Amino acid sequence: MEASDVKNFELAEQGHLRIAWAGDQMPVLRMIAERFAKERPFAGKRIGACLHVTTETANLMLTLKSGGAEVALCASNPLSTQDDVAAALVTQGIQVYAKKGEDTKTYHEHLDRVLDFEPQIIMDDGADLHGLLHSKRKESLKNIVGGTEETTTGVVRLRSMEKEGALQYPVISVNDANTKHLFDNRYGTGQSTLDGILRATNVLLAGKTMVVAGYGWCGRDIAMRAKGMGSKVIVTEIDPLKALEAVMDGFEVMPMKEAAKRGEIFVTVTGNMQVIAKDHFLLLKDGAIISNSGHFNVEIDIDALAAMSVRRRYVREFVEEFTLGDGKRVFLLGEGRLINLAAAEGHPASVMDMSFANQALSAEFFFHLDKKMDRKIYKVPRSD
Ligand code: NAI
Repeated sequence: MEASDVKNFELAEQGHLRIAWAGDQMPVLRMIAERFAKERPFAGKRIGACLHVTTETANLMLTLKSGGAEVALCASNPLSTQDDVAAALVTQGIQVYAKKGEDTKTYHEHLDRVLDFEPQIIMDDGADLHGLLHSKRKESLKNIVGGTEETTTGVVRLRSMEKEGALQYPVISVNDANTKHLFDNRYGTGQSTLDGILRATNVLLAGKTMVVAGYGWCGRDIAMRAKGMGSKVIVTEIDPLKALEAVMDGFEVMPMKEAAKRGEIFVTVTGNMQVIAKDHFLLLKDGAIISNSGHFNVEIDIDALAAMSVRRRYVREFVEEFTLGDGKRVFLLGEGRLINLAAAEGHPASVMDMSFANQALSAEFFFHLDKKMDRKIYKVPRSD
């Protein structure tokens, strides 16, 4: 237990109950865990993971452990950790370095602790751990057999490393598996993002104008679910083809400069930066609610918003009010971090079951190879 850093061990009992509740919705992972328990594919191997520390992730960590792995886990976002889950996992022999609300320094120290553990497989969500290994912690590369990546933004970062010839080990892009993005991104993000917005604000969605920035796998789900809840949905999108899809799906599509004047609730989910920026804040209505469900907290230019504001204060947990010079109020949810994990519990377990089955099988794949893989990004193999 000394090796870990979690908020409160007294929460472990509650964590066990919640992990078991999620586990009941994860039949695929359970089948894999049962096989792993017999075959022990990871006996004597170390896996380092940087994932949202949720009940679903806990079931993945326990699956790896049942296959004989030693596992160290840190958070892939400072606000997404469920402290009871972190505590429960430590009592089950997993090293955990994660506290909800940890500051940036602690977040980075926790990434380092996972690399101190000298993992052979890196299981990442957003590529922070992969990035650290390729920059400040190159000495730890010698142990690495391969890595996996869970989300779109992480895959984008890794592809640019691959293109520059900088990638130092093979990575399996779990996000690109059909059984991941066609379900997790498409059917998990909408429900959980609305759940996050509702838990943070308790606003009525019916009749509200919601602006969804990005009509990719995640954005189309958010737009569809918000429409189902009675919101009038506007989509902003920079890819003309996806914009056309949004039109054909029955949404109004326009640039953010137009949408900013009309929206009451905003969600960015693009993987891009400054999607809502200074020019847009000036156009917002009084009382506009802005949030993000993309991987990093860079989609809303919070520094610009702060610089334009004469006052900022929390009015509810996860709701920060910014008052601009003209008296207009803008409400930022969850520090601009992915709202479904900051204010709610992330995706439901049954959709994470498929994503994390991909993770478990991809990790196993690295130890079943008869030939060395190249330093490239691979898709999840379709068989085995
Ligand atoms: P995607 O690549 O399918 O879609 C992103 C879309 O945003 C693209 O169509 C792109 O053209 C558009 N876009 C980029 N810049 C834009 C801008 N300035 N304005 C409007 N549209 C813009 O990616 P996906 O899978 O939908 O993921 C989006 C983000 O959500 C990524 O950061 C990903 O890592 C993250 N993600 C978050 C999850 C969560 O639980 N909150 C779950 C899965 C992914």
